[in-house]
Amino acid sequence: MTANRFWQLDRHPEGHDFASALSLREETLTPLAPGEVRVATDWLSMDAGTRMWMSPRTDGYQPPLPLGSKMAGLCLGRVSESRDAAFPEGTLVRGFGRWADFATMVPALSGLEAVDETVADPREHFGALGMNAWTALVGVKEIAAVKPGEWLVVSAAAGATGSLACQVGRNLGARVIGIAGGPDKCRYLRDEIGVELAIDYKAEDVAAALSGVEGGVNAYFDNVGGPMLDAVLPNMAHYGRVAVCGMVAAYDSDVALPGPAQFDQVLMRRLRIEGFFIPDFLHRGAEFLPMLRGWLDSGALRMRFAETQGLENVLDAYAGMLTGRGIGKVVVRVAA
Ligand SMILES: NC(=O)c1ccc[n+]([C@@H]2O[C@H](COP(=O)([O-])OP(=O)(O)OC[C@H]3O[C@@H](n4cnc5c(N)ncnc54)[C@H](OP(=O)(O)O)[C@@H]3O)[C@@H](O)[C@H]2O)c1
Repeated sequence: MTANRFWQLDRHPEGHDFASALSLREETLTPLAPGEVRVATDWLSMDAGTRMWMSPRTDGYQPPLPLGSKMAGLCLGRVSESRDAAFPEGTLVRGFGRWADFATMVPALSGLEAVDETVADPREHFGALGMNAWTALVGVKEIAAVKPGEWLVVSAAAGATGSLACQVGRNLGARVIGIAGGPDKCRYLRDEIGVELAIDYKAEDVAAALSGVEGGVNAYFDNVGGPMLDAVLPNMAHYGRVAVCGMVAAYDSDVALPGPAQFDQVLMRRLRIEGFFIPDFLHRGAEFLPMLRGWLDSGALRMRFAETQGLENVLDAYAGMLTGRGIGKVVVRVAA
């Protein structure tokens, strides 16, 4: 009889108070049904978008997680039991599992896939080869359609998705501007990520800083929404593109916030604004991986990991990710 610890969503959190909303519980694992796979979690990925699953909003990009459910999230680990021949015991896999020691999944419903065992640091399956990297590639290359020599602005630029979007833009020949909170993050963006300009939105006027961009901003990879989008819109070049990746400024609100005050600039500057959601692109993973793997192996795509030890410390890691405590990708090491 194997015990399984898991985090349960008891009520909708207020702000970043997750301790009042989730509880760590224990159960005994039951036998698998046909078609199910059980994964022993090695690492959990802390993702900003999952904050919306905790809210009661029914107009989000997927339904809210019912109260009383195990909290869902991306996990990386090995198959510990299987009733699906495509996922034999011992396979290293990534998929949408649970904040738990073990996640029981139906592969087709969980985006479960076997990942490359030859990658030196398995955490790169959450980093340069993971969903954040797919998001960065689709957003920069296809939605923002960045061309060499163009100006690309990225918000939440020192986080997981943002730091990858900056590097994808740089690798495709764009001139990259990163917006992030604090001098350490801006230094990281300049020294390690190779942006031309880093703007500390906590200390600088973003709109004023962007007003000096020669010819205007051609592409904006927006992770934040809210006032940040209003600061960028009047500084876009004509025929610019905005790839709406995320709206982290609004994820802890239980209602939709008003749209941008500067929306008229969409017409005045003939902008194209397009939202995109990476689960819509999961079937194209095999197409993205060769380019990402090539960049990883050559050092052209790097991820800094901020790792927390222990399932019991997930809530602290999660709040730290949402409040920008660390640089790069926040992960939790679950296996001892
Ligand atoms: N469309 C998709 O399919 C897709 C897929 C993956 C991720 N995303 C989006 O990508 C964004 C980043 O997600 P992630 O998981 O990679 O997290 P992350 O960037 O590693 O962490 C979140 C970051 O957001 C910044 N932030 C938080 N509140 C902010 C605010 N009010 N104003 C400005 N910045 C704020 C913080 O950085 P600072 O210290 O700089 O404030 C923090 O580091 C999210 O919006 C997420 O929804 C979208």
